[in-house]
Amino acid sequence: MAIRRIGVLTSGSDGPGFNPCLCAVVRMAISLGVEVVGVRRGFTGLMNGEFISLSARSVGGIVHKGGTFLGTSPSVEFAGRRGQMEALRNLNEAEIDGLIVIGGDGTMRGAQQLHELGFPVVGIPGTIDNDVPGTDFSIGFDTALNTALDAIDRIKDTATSLQRAFLVEVMGRKSGNLALMAGLAGGAEMVCIPEQDFELDDVARTITDAYVKGKAHCIIVVAEGARFNATAIADYLQQRREEAGFTVRMTILGHVQRGGSPSAFDRLLATRLGAFAVERLVAGERGVMVGLVGNEIVATPLAEVIAHPKAIDVGMFHLAETLAK
Ligand code: F6P
Repeated sequence: MAIRRIGVLTSGSDGPGFNPCLCAVVRMAISLGVEVVGVRRGFTGLMNGEFISLSARSVGGIVHKGGTFLGTSPSVEFAGRRGQMEALRNLNEAEIDGLIVIGGDGTMRGAQQLHELGFPVVGIPGTIDNDVPGTDFSIGFDTALNTALDAIDRIKDTATSLQRAFLVEVMGRKSGNLALMAGLAGGAEMVCIPEQDFELDDVARTITDAYVKGKAHCIIVVAEGARFNATAIADYLQQRREEAGFTVRMTILGHVQRGGSPSAFDRLLATRLGAFAVERLVAGERGVMVGLVGNEIVATPLAEVIAHPKAIDVGMFHLAETLAK
């Protein structure tokens, strides 16, 4: 079946780069003679039929803006069969022949459900967590990493002036990818992530060792999904403050990591993935997610993408440990 009109939605958590991706989707589709309908508020909007017609002008002036101009909603709401049926009904009524979905692993699961119901779907990975298999980087990760890194650099300035240890908690849900890369790039003394087990005492020892070595600060980057989060570690260290050497402070970076103008890398990634996704959908490809592997843009079956969680690069973890001397 020829594709004459496609829909596009952003689902789950937003991230910097979603807007340039939407711009690329819309303009590539128009250049191929395909109409585009925007779905507001992700899968929730799909189930409610919240559609708007998009033109080249409706996506003008947005490439530098964070968030997603279409809005989004938690992808978990798409789980029920009833909701999926409503979505299909709305898509058919609006004469939409194919759908592009932008989001994280939950969104890719929703896309796979639609694919299994026979609707043409292509996914694009967008999440600051960078935990979606089938791509080296997801849209939003690079900007969030730079935001976290900027915060770590600033914290290091004040930590050094007052000779303090800081616990810096970074987002990432169940993944330690963002924390690991922020810790490595930020020269952290220790990185605590869900993928590598650690004891509270390991953190205490790292802080004491840094003090005894004569360091002027000690930065511990903690992934929010680690076995012990920054609050739990801070509580433990509070009880043993005599042994720490450094005074300990904690900063939870939170949602500042999700906002802001997308980096050049994220804009380029978003643009390449958005354009390629439309080309694949119009060419007849279905049930795949597009991603960047090496320097190639490739398509991977959604079934493969959602089969296993993405592993961290253990070599990077050991490198961070080795360099934290
Ligand atoms: O998936 C992106 C993310 O920012 C995670 O890193 C974080 O755990 C989660 O979303 C926060 O979700 P919410 O905005 O619903 O609190």
